[in-house]
Amino acid sequence: MQLIRFVKAGRGEAPGKAIVLGEHFVVHGAPALAVPVQGRVVRVAASPEPGPWRCDPRATPWIEGMLRHLGLDPDAVRIEVDATLPVGAGLGSSAALAVALVRALGVEATPEVRRLAHELEKLAHGDPSGVDDTVAAYAAPVWFVRGAAPVPIDAAARLPLWVALTPAGPPTSEAVARVASWRAAAPGRFADIIASAQQIAEAGRVALATGDWAALGRLMSRAQAHLREVGVSTPLLDALCERAVREGAWGAKLTGSGLGGAMIALAPVGVDLDGPLSEAGASEVFRA
Ligand code: PMV
Repeated sequence: MQLIRFVKAGRGEAPGKAIVLGEHFVVHGAPALAVPVQGRVVRVAASPEPGPWRCDPRATPWIEGMLRHLGLDPDAVRIEVDATLPVGAGLGSSAALAVALVRALGVEATPEVRRLAHELEKLAHGDPSGVDDTVAAYAAPVWFVRGAAPVPIDAAARLPLWVALTPAGPPTSEAVARVASWRAAAPGRFADIIASAQQIAEAGRVALATGDWAALGRLMSRAQAHLREVGVSTPLLDALCERAVREGAWGAKLTGSGLGGAMIALAPVGVDLDGPLSEAGASEVFRA
């Protein structure tokens, strides 16, 4: 089925996402809060003509699959991709690519961009929650409860966020399965953690809306303690979180499915985490 009529060359761009609160617990019913990763984007240029592609060869089969799914012949489309978003770090690079591609193919209305990108995300992730494609399409913070439509929300201002990378962990499904086993082994404690995660997310939504970064940072550190308890942190992610706080950050946690990948920290302007987090073992540190 032809979902898109592609007639003229276009460009699209989308940011990655960082889950500020609620990963894993969102699978078990608590809310999650995610924000765009500013300055780290995927850009796609597309033209309706055959020609050489310029993109990471690992992405080529996936882009071909997305084009076919949209009813387009990959051999009749020329694609160029520029990405500053790391792949496999839990920062939503596949959703950003899907959103940027759909925009480059000429879809303009954001709800429609999001709807199509969500369909394309299913090709990569089976049953994605929708948080990644919503943040990428709206380039805005999102409140997310499983089974409900994600709600874009207004943040008071841009978050003073730092991102540090560690080697990518196993697939998200493996980390999710690990938490499910933990829950089966300790159902009572897990119920307490979910109740706490619910409270943390609700307080985080208020802190985000009012720009209370100190409160939001403290909530992130509480979430990290829960994530560590259920077994999805790593010694390196823990060490980076501790170091960030020691250097003056309000709070820090892993982001995404964990067992590797990215950590995020909220820190006052003037606190420079680049050197300390690199020294503590991060492979890359950037402000987002
Ligand atoms: O790995 P990511 O960044 O797509 O995040 C996964 C978030 C989880 O809560 C672990 C899984 C999910 O489906 O919400």
